[in-house]
Amino acid sequence: MERILITGLTGHLGIATIEHMLKNTTADKIVALVRSVEKATSLIEKGVEVRIGNFDDNNSLANALKGIDKVLLISGTDPHRLQQHKNVVDASKKAGVKHIIYTGIAIKDVNTSLNIPLMEDNFKTEDYIKENGLTFTFLRNSLYSDTISMHIGEVAIETGIFLPAGTGKVPFVLRRDLAEATANVLLQNGHENKTYELTGGKQYSFEDIASILSKLSGKTVDYTDINELAYSEALKQNGVPERFVTLLSGYVADIKNRQFEIVSNDLEDLLGRKPTDFKAVLNAFVNYKN
Ligand SMILES: NC(=O)c1ccc[n+]([C@@H]2O[C@H](COP(=O)([O-])OP(=O)(O)OC[C@H]3O[C@@H](n4cnc5c(N)ncnc54)[C@H](OP(=O)(O)O)[C@@H]3O)[C@@H](O)[C@H]2O)c1
Repeated sequence: MERILITGLTGHLGIATIEHMLKNTTADKIVALVRSVEKATSLIEKGVEVRIGNFDDNNSLANALKGIDKVLLISGTDPHRLQQHKNVVDASKKAGVKHIIYTGIAIKDVNTSLNIPLMEDNFKTEDYIKENGLTFTFLRNSLYSDTISMHIGEVAIETGIFLPAGTGKVPFVLRRDLAEATANVLLQNGHENKTYELTGGKQYSFEDIASILSKLSGKTVDYTDINELAYSEALKQNGVPERFVTLLSGYVADIKNRQFEIVSNDLEDLLGRKPTDFKAVLNAFVNYKN
């Protein structure tokens, strides 16, 4: 029986991925790499084998990868994650893993991104997997629609949207849809050495988002294209840690520079249905706020 090791199964994308997988396969096919048993109780209850490991600990990775055929590497969150990803690739190669599926980012041109090194890490990880001769599947994810409040603010309906995003657009994509597509890729053949751009079916500017929120809420929601300094200062005043100020500012700068303007049918093809309409996510945002 083929065994698939998945990282990040205690995170949002991982949890949703395993839920979809278990609709189509048995738990004994799946091995979870987790940092702590405490966080893994629901996985253990599902019958998933849990192996303790950390991207920073090569011995733990060597043990965790024994007998594994396929790895889903969900990108990490630490500033040094490129090295962490390389550790997983090295350990996979040594353990005889045949195929690595990696969740990266769907942007137009990493060389002109203003969010280097965050974006670069994704593409350098892809390069490293290829250089090591492993069969790959790259799932390049666009920005999550679930985290829209992180960009527009929890109280956007009352205050309006203030962002230095110009008229740049994003094909926001629901994490649950990405998880379902990821589960399909893990359980099907035919995705070897393919790169997919997993995006929503339509792209939206923040002007578009303000207009949709106005219609849905019955209130006037304006979008103001503020300058970058005012944005980062506002984040700092709201207590956002320095590292995240840099990250969020980089994301918005890339939106303004149209880095995310890729609309692909790959997600629809992998799901066998249309991706969830972003307007439904905005509707949930409005109803949650009311
Ligand atoms: N496209 C987008 O809009 C977008 C937005 C945010 C993030 N991302 C990327 O997509 C990934 C998945 O998103 P998500 O929302 O599922 O993130 P998440 O909820 O923060 O989950 C991250 C997962 O990675 C695991 N992890 C982190 N560092 C690790 C390490 N050193 N060793 C082993 N496991 C480690 C975490 O384990 P613990 O539970 O032990 O912490 C957790 O399971 C993120 O990691 C990030 O790189 C994309």
